[in-house]
Amino acid sequence: MCGIIGVTGSPDSITVLLDGLARLEYRGYDSAGVALQVPSGLWIERSARGTESLSDLVAALDRAPGPCGAGIGHTRWATHGRPSEVNAHPHRDCTGTVAVVHNGIIENHFELAAELSASGHELVSDTDSEVLAHLIEASLADGKALVDAVRACVRSVRGSLAMVAVHSADPALLVAARRVSPLIVATTDRIGFVASDVPALLGRADVMYVLEDGQVAEVRPGEIRVVGADGEISVPVELKVDWDLTAAQKGGFDNFMLKEIHEQPAAVADTLMGRLSPGGTVLLDEMRIDDDELREVEKVFIVACGSSYHAGLVAKYAMEHWARMAVEIDIASEFRYRDPILDSRTLVVGVSQSGETLDTLQAIRYARRWNAKVLVVTNVVDSSMAREADGVFYTRAGPEIGVAATKTFLAQLVALETLSLYLAGLRGTLYPAEISDLLDSMQELPAKVASALGRSEEVFNLAAAYAASAEFFFIGRHVGYPVALEGALKLKEISYLHAEGYPAGELKHGPIALLEEGSIVVGIATRTRLWEKMMANVAEVRARGAVVVLVANEGDEETGSVGDATLWVPSTHPLFAPVLDVIPLQLFAYALARARGNDVDRPRNLAKTVTVE
Ligand code: M6R
Repeated sequence: MCGIIGVTGSPDSITVLLDGLARLEYRGYDSAGVALQVPSGLWIERSARGTESLSDLVAALDRAPGPCGAGIGHTRWATHGRPSEVNAHPHRDCTGTVAVVHNGIIENHFELAAELSASGHELVSDTDSEVLAHLIEASLADGKALVDAVRACVRSVRGSLAMVAVHSADPALLVAARRVSPLIVATTDRIGFVASDVPALLGRADVMYVLEDGQVAEVRPGEIRVVGADGEISVPVELKVDWDLTAAQKGGFDNFMLKEIHEQPAAVADTLMGRLSPGGTVLLDEMRIDDDELREVEKVFIVACGSSYHAGLVAKYAMEHWARMAVEIDIASEFRYRDPILDSRTLVVGVSQSGETLDTLQAIRYARRWNAKVLVVTNVVDSSMAREADGVFYTRAGPEIGVAATKTFLAQLVALETLSLYLAGLRGTLYPAEISDLLDSMQELPAKVASALGRSEEVFNLAAAYAASAEFFFIGRHVGYPVALEGALKLKEISYLHAEGYPAGELKHGPIALLEEGSIVVGIATRTRLWEKMMANVAEVRARGAVVVLVANEGDEETGSVGDATLWVPSTHPLFAPVLDVIPLQLFAYALARARGNDVDRPRNLAKTVTVE
């Protein structure tokens, strides 16, 4: 995590840095800082006031002394060392002429810090990152150029790193390096940039390139030179960027989360666009695994984290039901440590909005080492996972800035269900006419998503009635279970209220003991296969005095009459129901978080892209 930005040659470096940091805050916001080359040397300003850090920096930068050369900025998600000014980036060397920003984890930092201290360096922070500045200082003292000092520094650290260094001896130069953690470099004819991610540079750069593992880039105004780990000049890979600046702005909404919730009809429509042919065929043009190989697959593993994991759970139901394939699903951070049995007849599907989540990235790397075929469902074109996988299915939700996944979750659901139908077609487990009917139902989803969103006010009013409640249970069966998990996760992460998601049938095996008079239970009670059993579970919680809120299909007065309150959604095919059923839960979590005065785009302790294990 952490966001990095660098610029050189711009007449307005400060604006570029501050805008870039604002757009990268989804990667962390425990502290923020910048280092600028000014006439008197390196000028550094940092603030560690959580979500207020960036506004502190805006005020401080008004006082920046004189015209600026190159500049670097950082927004932090703390791993080593608590969020404080001394632990904020940029970090300096002992001479104050080198400054470094870093994203990743340096696994041997204790060892390196001890060696550096023994040779006279004074390290002042608790971070793992500070050693980088001192390692560079040591190499510069040996007469190396900055680029060679950075290469030497990268060689001596273990772990993941994306970093940018500046040195006052060469005020127009940025040196960027990458191992595992993502980094892009970009230019116009007069300016050079470095950033963790594309949104930071939308509208600023003409061409963007992705740095590969082990590459080091010298970035000067209008010029980029990349060398590989072997020191040879490399040609960086140009990024395909089809997002525009408006996609990274709030567009009249109070926050990105609400904007992104309302972009869901388009996110679903764009993800389906061009993939469903009228004759009932699924077209997957980015699939680089051929059909014969897919027919031979004996087992599928889905690996993902957080909301992507919940989308993967829905896919397990769809793939097993339609394509009759055996599917296991793993939390990505656990996958490779349990010794899964993989071979060339295994398909591993990595699901990741960002395509950079380190747990998922490492899981798919592990799968490739065992010769499994790897397919990735991601929202970010040319992300690390997209580049390393055998096949990619891009969700086309556009950039998601709010930390809580919303539109990308819906896009993942429809992408994974499309994939399941594709596999069913290939393996002949569904008749073409059946696939065609299902595809027709899918085409109706964007309009139904819009219709569910049309009920936002009803959901907000209901949430207001429960604003004083401290604990929520979400229950569902079959594909309602992942929806319950997602509803609970949304509520936890942005409202900080205690929420639990359970399979409704499991409640009686223990968790029901937690219920007491007035506990709030949200049940997913749309008409899926297990509706009757679900209603029996609802009766069990009502009998214990719980207040029951049910998600039900419009017109289903029978379900509506059971709960204390109802959240209505349109009907669809039962396996597509999660796409609609989750919408009132997103809105419910949003409303409760806002009622509590929380910053929904930047919830505490979280970051959008988690690039640490
Ligand atoms: O980028 P990814 O989809 O791999 O991210 C996975 C999780 O970190 C992510 O879904 C997280 O749980 C979100 N904050 C959920 O809203």
